[in-house]
Amino acid sequence: MSTRQRNPTPLISAADVQRRIAELAQEIDRDYADSDRLIAIGVLKGSVFFLTDLLKHLQVPVAVDFFQTSSYRDATTPGEVRILKDVELSIRGQDVLLIEDIIDTGFTLRTILDLLRFRGAKSVKLCALLDKPARRQVEVPIDYRGFEIEDVFVVGYGLDYAERYRNLPYVGVITPSSGQDT
Ligand code: IMP
Ligand code: MG
Repeated sequence: MSTRQRNPTPLISAADVQRRIAELAQEIDRDYADSDRLIAIGVLKGSVFFLTDLLKHLQVPVAVDFFQTSSYRDATTPGEVRILKDVELSIRGQDVLLIEDIIDTGFTLRTILDLLRFRGAKSVKLCALLDKPARRQVEVPIDYRGFEIEDVFVVGYGLDYAERYRNLPYVGVITPSSGQDT
């Protein structure tokens, strides 16, 4: 096969993703109706598609910022997460809504949640499009969850395999070991 990407097997359609996002936004709007200090923080790069679609539905005033992280995926440093890019806004006294594409082992979000609390956030909640509970190694409370999925590798709607597929409007399954050429 050439360098063209193969089509992942659809798992969650574009329409279902958008429908669920509208529902989550309604909940968030209701819960933060009295807050004038809401900051939505996305984790680059995977959450960007989700964050922008979600925030477009909100009526409450909201600031936007981003973290970028990277985890060491070797056996000697399990769960060690590096912050590659920090947020620019001050966190102290703010209501923080963390926005993530998927919660897998939980290490990334555990690290970020702890950091935001350390910096004196007034409240911290987590909104994740996808939850893969079978893979969890550390506990993270998900306040707004799009979909729970099985232990499969998914791409699309922000999620990548070797930086490809992020732009798909739906979430699909690929098998990375089966001769993908990236
Ligand atoms: P965690 O720290 O293990 O929870 O990992 C979170 C990050 O791993 C996510 O933000 C994704 O970038 C990546 N990840 C986990 N599972 C998948 C998947 O099925 N497809 C693509 N990326 C994934
Ligand atoms: Mg990622």
